[in-house]
Amino acid sequence: MDIAYSDKNPDLGRLYGAHLATVCERYDHALQASGASHAVVFSGAAHPVFLDDMVYPFRAAANFLCWAPLSDLPLSYVVYTPGERPVLIYNQPRGYWHVVPGAPDGYWTRYFDIRIVHELADASDHLPENRDNCVFIGEVLEPTQALGVERVNPSTTLNLLHYPRGRKTEYEIECMRLASRRGVAGHNAAKRAFMDGASEFSIHKAYCDAVSLTDNELPYGNIIALNEHAAVLHYTALDRQAPDPYRSFLIDAGAQVHGYASDITRTYSFDDSDFSDLIDRMETLQLDVVADVRAGVDYKELHVQTHHRIADVLVEADLASGSSESLLINGVTSTFFPHGLGHLLGTQVHDVGGHMENESGNTIDPPSGHPFLRLTRTLEENMVVTIEPGIYFIDMLLDKLKGTPAEKQVNWQRVADLKPFGGIRIEDDVRVKQDGCENLTRDAFSTA
Ligand code: GLY
Ligand code: MN
Ligand code: MN
Repeated sequence: MDIAYSDKNPDLGRLYGAHLATVCERYDHALQASGASHAVVFSGAAHPVFLDDMVYPFRAAANFLCWAPLSDLPLSYVVYTPGERPVLIYNQPRGYWHVVPGAPDGYWTRYFDIRIVHELADASDHLPENRDNCVFIGEVLEPTQALGVERVNPSTTLNLLHYPRGRKTEYEIECMRLASRRGVAGHNAAKRAFMDGASEFSIHKAYCDAVSLTDNELPYGNIIALNEHAAVLHYTALDRQAPDPYRSFLIDAGAQVHGYASDITRTYSFDDSDFSDLIDRMETLQLDVVADVRAGVDYKELHVQTHHRIADVLVEADLASGSSESLLINGVTSTFFPHGLGHLLGTQVHDVGGHMENESGNTIDPPSGHPFLRLTRTLEENMVVTIEPGIYFIDMLLDKLKGTPAEKQVNWQRVADLKPFGGIRIEDDVRVKQDGCENLTRDAFSTA
């Protein structure tokens, strides 16, 4: 593995102490406001398959990953008491059927009081005696995993932790810069495979090879969509045969470093200049939206402004006619752009807290008519968000326009001509700054 992505990365080592101090401060505040003295944060367990002796791939809990880069350590706990060094109950089962976690290693270890246990039952010995003073954060599949703590995931505590998680520490941002760099290596390999005429499955393999991650280690299932498959927003089928004719490619694929994700989308035309022209228009639109990102901007407004920009592109590309206002009101823009502009990014691809108004649990609804918008907050410095506008040719949505005032606004012949290309999405990950943003994705592409 590239040392930069490992727990030997000295840059991450330099930033980690300050990150952990921020995590501790957030827990200090959350515990105090919840009337608790200790937090027990669980890494999670692999889910069993029904009536089978198999398990689904393990995913570490996002709240656990904020403590330490331990994405492959099931049945382990961080026990935190304000003012004390966090205890890490590190589960290292004995056995020969499965690989067991190695000895704890890396820049993060010196910040923890690490207790190795070989049996889940022994984890209990490392918890404060009075379980009533503890809150437990994590998913519990078996009661024994809660170690006798009864206050499991209190919403007060979760709200107090999830709201500030929207703002990332320098360490988290560096992890996401690295995840962007890693993802871009995959994107470049995938683009080469597309230009060689490969199938979706082969492009996917080229991607995984370049990022050196297995399917289960990717932050989300790769979307590798050729031709009309790009119109399925979360297409993950991976056809084994290359289509003929070979027209277009939408790739939405990320990578992770220490549990932090990148989430990147690009769209390419194989050899059609008309579709290429539409991609260029969307590229300009996407960059215009990115240029508007800064602290203090209401993300809901950015989303609605993007609909006006989409209306302009639809008119310029002769896909629709009318004022941008009428194209919004009549549902034309949301037919072609039916998802949100983006979301928070972190240890979850769709990081928690996107609708939170404050740490008390009040929420901000998406604007009416835009139910899929995952981020409704005002942007703050050091939030990391995606900007991912798109245009798609989706029969199910287009059909709904028939018989409405919108029907006359759509150029159905143009739609029919472009439908075989599926759609376009361009997605960057950006870190919000006071006066603009840092584009993690484009920086990674330009240094690749
Ligand atoms: N890849 C999922 C998303 O863009 O939100
Ligand atoms: Mn996204
Ligand atoms: Mn994406």
